[in-house]
Amino acid sequence: MYKDKKVVFSGVQPSGMLTIGNYLGAIQNFPTFSEQYRCYYCVVDLHAITVRQNPAELRRRTYETLALYMACGLDPEKNVLFAQSHVSAHAELGWILDCYTMFGELSRMTQFKDKSAKNADNINAGLFTYPALMAADILLYQTELVPVGSDQKQHLELARDIATRFNGIYGDTFVVPEGFIPKAAARVMSLADPTKKMSKSDENENAVVRILDPKDVILRKFKRAVTDSGCEVRRGEGKAAIENLMSIYGAFAKKTPEEIEREFDGRGYGDFKAAVGEACADALAPVQAEFNRLMADKAYLEEVMAKGAAEAAHDTLRTMSKVRRKIGFTEIKR
Ligand code: TYM
Repeated sequence: MYKDKKVVFSGVQPSGMLTIGNYLGAIQNFPTFSEQYRCYYCVVDLHAITVRQNPAELRRRTYETLALYMACGLDPEKNVLFAQSHVSAHAELGWILDCYTMFGELSRMTQFKDKSAKNADNINAGLFTYPALMAADILLYQTELVPVGSDQKQHLELARDIATRFNGIYGDTFVVPEGFIPKAAARVMSLADPTKKMSKSDENENAVVRILDPKDVILRKFKRAVTDSGCEVRRGEGKAAIENLMSIYGAFAKKTPEEIEREFDGRGYGDFKAAVGEACADALAPVQAEFNRLMADKAYLEEVMAKGAAEAAHDTLRTMSKVRRKIGFTEIKR
């Protein structure tokens, strides 16, 4: 609880150009909480270095992610927008929570298994303890609600377990957070392989639609998207690729699966894929225009970042002081 408001927290890694998966599964929903909740939206750069990053690119992407937050409708006057590395309590509580997180729990995380398979030459300790840092991000602000795509469910469950464990040992310290996972497009799949999640780090550019892709690129990527056997636009057995395109179309064009099946009854995949591309490009055009405007004003982005970091840092003080006291750390009276 922040003053009289409940708290929302979420984060996005600045580890690649964001995709329509990030948009539909998470960022698009962020502004819907801004009035009723105290909202913290963080660019989680500490998380990004669990995979090796080029320093100049990491810096640029951190600005870009912040600009995209705003371009997607987050007003910095109504939300706390900041970079994780600017608020040292994240790393500090992250370490503390490492000591309340079990090796066995971290070993079961599917994202750790996937990422260590992809980065076999850099399976570092941070990649392993990543979910404890994510728990710290959330618990630091006494968060009630965490809007994320469904791939983050397991991490969120662990954050709840860590909070419950800590509260069990020391008495009520953390709010146990709930996830907010959208009904539609909670897991957007790759356009090249509908059994795989669409991921910003995919090496196959045709598998991924980026929020900032120009219209012709978006249309081409959807045109090339794999489809299933048959030619009907409907859900069902063996229709994973079409179902994925239907959920993307539904989310952008605000249509239900039934409406989409009716609209494309008797029409082929070609027509349908062109319509998905158009709906996606139309929805993203204003976001792209606003993004370009914001990126041209770096001084403003820096101002937003500094203000957000100062507010966030201030808001971590109470929880950190409570945690220190409960654990038994000595305090210096100032
Ligand atoms: P990240 O950066 O991988 O993704 C950011 C958000 O986008 C969602 N998402 C998707 N949703 C639907 N379909 C997809 N294909 C897709 N790909 C990504 C993610 O679920 C996420 O909501 N660990 C987090 C970042 C994080 C965080 C946090 C989130 C760090 N601390 C605290 C919430 C609260 C991550 O790697 O997200």
